[in-house]
Amino acid sequence: MAKIEGLRIKNFKVLKDVTLGCLWNQPSSQPLTPITAVIGKNGVGKSALFDAFGFLADALKLGVEEACDARGRGGFERMRTQGETGPIEFEVCYRQQRNARSITYQIAIGEDRLGRPYVVSEIMKENLRNDQSLFFLFLVLGVGAVWKGKQAGKQIDETSEGFDIVKLDMSIKEGEKLQDAEWIKLEDQRKLGIATLGALKQYPRISAFRRFIEGWYLSYFTPDAARSLPLAGPQSRLNIHGDNLGNVVQFMEREHPRRFQAMLKKIAKKIPGIHKIDTERTNDGRLLLRFNDKGFQEPFYAQQVSDGTLKVFAYLLLLEDPKPPPFLCIEEPENGLYHKLLETLANEFREHASGRRGNSQVFVTTHQPYFVDALEPQEVWILEKGEEGFSTIRRASDDPIVSNMVEEGLPLGSLWYSDYLDAR
Ligand SMILES: Nc1ncnc2c1ncn2[C@@H]1O[C@H](COP(=O)(O)OP(=O)(O)O)[C@@H](O)[C@H]1O
Ligand SMILES: [Mg+2]
Repeated sequence: MAKIEGLRIKNFKVLKDVTLGCLWNQPSSQPLTPITAVIGKNGVGKSALFDAFGFLADALKLGVEEACDARGRGGFERMRTQGETGPIEFEVCYRQQRNARSITYQIAIGEDRLGRPYVVSEIMKENLRNDQSLFFLFLVLGVGAVWKGKQAGKQIDETSEGFDIVKLDMSIKEGEKLQDAEWIKLEDQRKLGIATLGALKQYPRISAFRRFIEGWYLSYFTPDAARSLPLAGPQSRLNIHGDNLGNVVQFMEREHPRRFQAMLKKIAKKIPGIHKIDTERTNDGRLLLRFNDKGFQEPFYAQQVSDGTLKVFAYLLLLEDPKPPPFLCIEEPENGLYHKLLETLANEFREHASGRRGNSQVFVTTHQPYFVDALEPQEVWILEKGEEGFSTIRRASDDPIVSNMVEEGLPLGSLWYSDYLDAR
């Protein structure tokens, strides 16, 4: 199962330059764990971090111009870190399979004189040892080279003096022969190269990465969406807002009844009164989601059930997906949840993330200590806002005092609550 090992974000909102996990040139850093939680006070950039994933996924699907305007982002200028003039940059280091080489994808997005966003550069490379990289895609201003197959590429020492992707581009344009490479020119500089090339079988490394991003599940779940009345018909995956919750229940009841029952048992243990959940079809073909309480004869419908119940139910259902998404990103799952449920939820996410069957990698932002109580220091990252107004990030396990205290049995969330996780 593919896994993100590291991520660097530059000039994106309050995240002027932050790195999580390990990148190609940081072999001594630890990669991201199967579950990652980012914590921090209000305004430190948790939503920005969540949206960095959202923006990348949208840019792949819609192109950068539309993605800058989507989901209330307000356009390139509002997204770029205030006071900066350089491009917005993302670098993702990921591994397609456990024993494969890690791969880096880098993209820089700028704005032209008329205020239109476009892709400045895009590269993909395999990370070799000793700072060497095997480039198999580079595109500068929509022009560049790509290598077919699973192995070809151009080996480059990026630590060599004066290395710069634009210079590489120039030297190649000036006539250097590239073995096995194909020259390409994109028609539209607002579209990602990996969107076009990733659709072609000749480029399996690019296709795999494109599929990986397309498979990300970024939850924009709202209890009110889950209360809508969708048309009946089983659907295997919860959509990002959760308005097909009833359809997924229909699917699970029909296709995976035993798994569904086991999940209901789990929920019944955690939420008093919930004993059975099923669906009812209305005369006009819509779906009602019913929650049956032992103490009452008549069921309650989703419209009457609490936000917290709907949320826990939706998240647990998501984890039961027979084909789980490779990457699951949830912003502040705590809203509306009873604190004891949070620890349960954190444990469920964690178990799911580290499952032997190779389940989803989970990425969560939170400001709830109870959620963090269930986690280990290397799983938790602390975002803070510096005096100059930009955020920095560090791993809780980098602080030996914190690591020691957790080893002695103090839960991490309580350390946060008592300000031990604050910068010293
Ligand atoms: N383009 C930008 N440049 C710099 N800072 C920004 C930009 N856009 C928003 N911010 C700052 O980011 C902060 C909000 O970050 P956000 O991700 O919503 O925080 P959180 O989710 O942790 O509460 C605000 O303090 C806001 O001033
Ligand atoms: Mg937020």
